[in-house]
Amino acid sequence: MWLCPLALTLTLMAASGAACEVKDVCVGSPGIPGTPGSHGLPGRDGRDGVKGDPGPPGPMGPPGDMPCAPGNDGLPGAPGIPGECGEKGEPGERGPPGLPAHLDKELQATLHDFRHQILQTRGALSLQGSTLAVGEKVFSTNGQSGTFDAIQEACARAGGRIAVPRSPEENEAIASFVKKYNTYAYVGLTEGPSPGDFRYSDGTPVNYTNWYPGEPAGQGTEQCVEMYTDGRWNDRNCLYNRLTICEF
Ligand SMILES: *[C@@H]1O[C@H](CO)[C@@H](O)[C@H](O)[C@H]1NC(C)=O
Repeated sequence: MWLCPLALTLTLMAASGAACEVKDVCVGSPGIPGTPGSHGLPGRDGRDGVKGDPGPPGPMGPPGDMPCAPGNDGLPGAPGIPGECGEKGEPGERGPPGLPAHLDKELQATLHDFRHQILQTRGALSLQGSTLAVGEKVFSTNGQSGTFDAIQEACARAGGRIAVPRSPEENEAIASFVKKYNTYAYVGLTEGPSPGDFRYSDGTPVNYTNWYPGEPAGQGTEQCVEMYTDGRWNDRNCLYNRLTICEF
C-alpha cells in the first residue's frame, strides 16, 4: 500500500466532496489471502425449550427385605353379654349317715358354747349394771351390796356365780368395778377347815392370789375375802355388805 501514495491522496479529495474518477492509478497483483482468524467466544445460551411429554412408568422395584416391626396391641374390647344358665346338674351321691345329735361332739361343743354365751348375756343384762368381758368370762355387777350369802344367791339367780379372779387380768376387771362403785367387794373364795387355806366354791385350792401384805391374818376367824379398791385382798367376816359382782 505504501507503494501507492497517490491513491491515498485521491481518496482524501473524494472525502472533501470533489468528484473525480480514478482509474488504474496504481495497479498491483492481489496478495496472498491471510490466514483465517481464530474462532470467536461462544455465544450466549438460548431460551428454554418447551416442556417434553412424561415418560412411560418404570418397572416395579424389588420387594423390600426389611419388613416393619408389628405395632402395639389395641385396647381391649367391651365384655360380651353373659351366657345363658347351664342345666341343673344331677344330685351328688348321698353322704354317710350322720351321728345322732347327742353323740356328735362338734355339735355338742357348739351348742354348749351357744348356751354359755346366751347365759352370760342374759345374766349380765339381768344385773343391769356394768359388764366386762375378759377372755371366756363375763363379769357383771348390779351396783348393789349384800352379805356373802346374799351375793351368792343373787348371782345364782342371774345364772352365774360370785366373781373370783383367776388371773391378773380378771383381778383388774373386778377391781375396776370396786373403784367405780367405791365399795369393797367379796370375791368367791372361802376358808377351808384349816386356817389360811382358801378355796374356790367347788373346793379346789386357789392358783392365783393377790393378798394385801400381811394378809390373810384372821387365823380362821374371817372366812370370806374382800377386795380393796387397789385390787388387793383381805380376809374378812362374811356378814358385811359388799358389792355384788358375778361371773358368767
Ligand atoms: C388358774 O386356773 C384357771 C382354771 O384352770 C385358769 O383359767 C387360770 O389361768 C389359772 N391361773 C393361773 C394364774 O395359773
